[in-house]
Amino acid sequence: VHWTAEEKAAITSVWQEVNQEQDGHDALTRLLVVYPWTQRYFSSFGNLGNATAIAGNVKVRAHGKKVLSAVGDAIAHLDNVKGTLHDLSVVHAFKLYVDPENFKRLGEVLVIVLASKLGSAFTPQVQGAWEKFVAVLVDALSQGYN
Ligand code: HEM
Repeated sequence: VHWTAEEKAAITSVWQEVNQEQDGHDALTRLLVVYPWTQRYFSSFGNLGNATAIAGNVKVRAHGKKVLSAVGDAIAHLDNVKGTLHDLSVVHAFKLYVDPENFKRLGEVLVIVLASKLGSAFTPQVQGAWEKFVAVLVDALSQGYN
């Protein structure tokens, strides 16, 4: 993947505004509410019975932070996202059996969380860089399935 200087700046400057715990929680909550079948992977998390329960679930919060911390790792290594996420991909493929289609959905809710947080600062140009980053992220997380 080739990144322009503008793309790198758009990705990292948005990332500086991110609160990994809060925004990770918001993204995972959206994933579980908008795509309810993703709840089945998190049966150990306790009550995910409705949107309020999901939003108040401490395990969802803790896990959202873990997910965004891995995204932060990828952003810190934009020139080697694949290598950075290799092992995590294998874990999702062979230990967690997560359908890789769901990575796209998580990428999508993450973009929505960032857009609603940043408002007009999330310009079309910034969105473009983030959509490209999400595609690279999804690709890297899907590599271990082969
Ligand atoms: C675990 C990251 C997407 C399901 C994890 C862990 C990380 C992570 C860092 C902890 C791994 C460990 O403890 O060794 C990510 C990233 C994603 C992503 C960066 C996409 C951007 C998904 C999706 C699903 C999923 C879409 C399911 C719909 C799980 C499950 C666990 C897990 C079930 C284990 C949770 C537990 O029992 O503690 N993920 N993940 N992940 N992930 Fe993902």
